[in-house]
Amino acid sequence: MALLEVQNVSKAYKTQSAPVVALQNVSFEIDPGEFAAVVGRSGCGKSTLLNVCGAMDFPTSGEVVIDGQITSRLNDAALTRLRRQKIGFIFQSFQLLHTLTIAENVELPLMLAGEKNTRRAALERLDWVELPDVADRYPHQISGGQQQRTAIARALVHNPRLLLADEPTGNLDTVTGDIILQLLHRTAHELRVAVVMATHGAESTAAADRVIAMRDGRLETATVFR
Ligand SMILES: Nc1ncnc2c1ncn2[C@@H]1O[C@H](COP(=O)(O)OP(=O)(O)O)[C@@H](O)[C@H]1O
Ligand SMILES: [Mg+2]
Repeated sequence: MALLEVQNVSKAYKTQSAPVVALQNVSFEIDPGEFAAVVGRSGCGKSTLLNVCGAMDFPTSGEVVIDGQITSRLNDAALTRLRRQKIGFIFQSFQLLHTLTIAENVELPLMLAGEKNTRRAALERLDWVELPDVADRYPHQISGGQQQRTAIARALVHNPRLLLADEPTGNLDTVTGDIILQLLHRTAHELRVAVVMATHGAESTAAADRVIAMRDGRLETATVFR
């Protein structure tokens, strides 16, 4: 069964003038273990699509189904649980907290969920993203690529089924960006997470199993490479 189903999704933002249509009748599915890239130029609706895929925002029409759960039918408590248990998010700007150490940043989602042994789980994930030696440093003491790997460790610390990555290589040079792409590929294939990455750079798509090309809020083509 698909881990993520996007069914005929449209999204219009209300504004003071005419509504802005950001998505129109978009449909696709992503399986567990699949690395999908959403591509298209700036303004085509990539971030909007990722936000609705992560139940951070809601379609105007259509349905998003995550691990069998129809998001429009969930109440606030169930949505919070779905996001906390099943979804991880990473961003272009890393979004680390600068007053916390690397390990504390990774532990934070578990602490907020009231879990114990958060330190050990964080160190295991830092190991997995190949950052074993920086646990007690602060974000400004490590490189951009290391900061993004920290953000990936944080996004994976609760073993989500779905990882959403919005322009994750946008602030990185190409060599460092490629390391992040390989890590996302490994996350999909080895951890069996469904990974959906938005990018406006077509060169980022070589590692992807599926490319979802967007244009002006519509699905242009969806190509599967596996
Ligand atoms: N909160 C918002 N209010 C109004 N319009 C928005 C909002 N967010 C995005 N948009 C518009 O929706 C369209 C898609 O934006 P976005 O999803 O950010 O595209 P992308 O991530 O591909 O650059 C754009 O026209 C953008 O200006
Ligand atoms: Mg965007």
